[in-house]
Amino acid sequence: MPLVHAEQLVKTYRAGDIDVQAVRGIDFSIEPASFVAFVGPSGSGKSTLLNMIGCLDRPTAGKLTVLDTDVATLDRRASAAFRGQHIGFIFQDFNLIPVLTAYENIEYPLIMVQDWSPKERADRVSGLLAAVGMADQANKRPDQLSGGQKQRVAVARALVANRSWCSPTSPPPTSTTTPPTASSN
Ligand SMILES: Nc1ncnc2c1ncn2[C@@H]1O[C@H](COP(=O)(O)OP(=O)(O)OP(=O)(O)O)[C@@H](O)[C@H]1O
Ligand SMILES: [Mg+2]
Repeated sequence: MPLVHAEQLVKTYRAGDIDVQAVRGIDFSIEPASFVAFVGPSGSGKSTLLNMIGCLDRPTAGKLTVLDTDVATLDRRASAAFRGQHIGFIFQDFNLIPVLTAYENIEYPLIMVQDWSPKERADRVSGLLAAVGMADQANKRPDQLSGGQKQRVAVARALVANRSWCSPTSPPPTSTTTPPTASSN
């Protein structure tokens, strides 16, 4: 089973009186544990595509399955649950929460969408902060971080709820699901 499968996938935005065809009928499959890059000029539809794969936006036409789920069938609430369970995002402009510290930004998905104990959370977040070289910046808010430091916090946040990710200090809890990680660019 492919992780992501698209057939004749289309996304058309309505901007005033004009239809903007951001994605025009593309077909592809992504296998589990693969690393894929969508490459193209600015405005060619990369973020639009990643937003659809990440269930942040819905296709206008065509078929899109993620983890064997037809994402067009998910309503708002089901999309949110699916994202929280399976998908990590690194947004083009990071979208860190300004009032939370680096540590709290990374911890947030574990509190909001996944049922981790405080001890598991602390181990997991500390491990990821160290992995991205941000252990000494844990208590800073996003406006006190450089662009690259914000980016590393965003990477850590995208990975934090990935239950298949293992490190010696933070064994994941029970699930065996392998979630994808989307970078929204
Ligand atoms: N909400 C929207 N409403 C109308 N048009 C949109 C919307 N979002 C994106 N577009 C248009 O869709 C096209 C694709 O945009 P998209 O953001 O997917 O490009 P991109 O490949 O990610 O570009 P970049 O490399 O600059 O990030 C562009 O022409 C853009 O102007
Ligand atoms: Mg983009």
